[in-house]
Amino acid sequence: MTKLLGVIGDPIAHSMSPLIHNGWLRDLGYNANYEAMHVPAGEFDLALQTLETRDILGVNVTLPHKADALRAATTKHPAAAAIGAANTLSFQSDGNWTADNTDAPGFLRAIGEIDPSTDKVIILGAGGSARALVYALSKAGFSPIILNRTIAKAQALAGDLGGTKSLGASLDQYKDYLDSATIVINTTSMGHEGAVLELPEGRDRLFFDISYGHISAAQLAHAAARGWRNRDGLTMLVAQAAYSFEIWFNEFPSIDAGLRRCRAAMKAIT
Ligand code: ATR
Repeated sequence: MTKLLGVIGDPIAHSMSPLIHNGWLRDLGYNANYEAMHVPAGEFDLALQTLETRDILGVNVTLPHKADALRAATTKHPAAAAIGAANTLSFQSDGNWTADNTDAPGFLRAIGEIDPSTDKVIILGAGGSARALVYALSKAGFSPIILNRTIAKAQALAGDLGGTKSLGASLDQYKDYLDSATIVINTTSMGHEGAVLELPEGRDRLFFDISYGHISAAQLAHAAARGWRNRDGLTMLVAQAAYSFEIWFNEFPSIDAGLRRCRAAMKAIT
C-alpha cells in the first residue's frame, strides 16, 4: 500500500517540499507519495482528522499552522515545545501524533561551521522563523543579538529562549550594530515587500538570508556588492526537509540531490 506524506499550509501551491521529498522517495525506493495540501487557517484539526482515515505516515506543517501542529500532538519533542511551533508531525500506530521542529537543526546544518568563541551573530527579525534560529543558536552556545523593528518582540523572544541578548533598533540604526557581528542572519519578511536593508562594508563576513529565490535576490545582491559572503535559505529548506525525512524513515537523504532539484526547478521558472 502506498503511504501518504505531505505538507499542510496556506499558501502552499509554490512549496518545493513535494519536489524535494518525492525525489528522495524515488531515489531511496520507498512506496510513498508526498502531496501539497492546501488547508486554510481554522481548518487544521479537520485536515488532520481526514488524514487519520488515510494511510498517513506524517506531514510537514508550514504557515499558518505551526503552533496548531504543536498543540495537536500528544508527544512534543523538546525543541518544538521550546520554540512553540512544529513543522513535522508523525502519525503513530496508537493513533496519536508526535511533533518535532526540524527548522532548528536544518538551520545549523545550512549555516555550516560556526564557533561561539569567535563568531558574533546578529539576527534580524523576531517572528516565527527567528524563534527556531535563536533556539538552535542558544543550544550551540551562542548568545545572538536580536534586532527587530518592534523592540518588545525581540525582548520577548530573548526572554523565552534564554541566553540571548536583544537590542531594539529602528531600521536606520541597524547599520551601526551590524559592524559588531561576524554573521548576520535576515529572518524578516522585508523581502516580500521588495525592501532592502542597507548594509555596511562586509569585509568577507557572512550574510545569511533565510528566504530564497526572488524574495531574497535584491538583498543578497546588495550584500554581495558590499563585500559580504552570502547564502540564501534554500540549503536550510532542504536540510529541514532531510531531518523530517529521517524522522519518518530513519534514513538521512542526500541534501545535495535535494538542492540540485530545487535549483533546477527555480532555473526553469525564471
Ligand atoms: P516569520 O514567521 O516568517 O518569521 P513573522 O512572524 O510575520 O514571519 O515575522 C516577520 C518579521 O519580519 C518580524 O520580525 C517583523 O518585524 P515586527 O516584529 O516589527 O513586525 C519583520 N518585518 C516585516 N516587515 C518588515 C519591514 N518592512 N522592516 C523591518 N522588519 C520587518
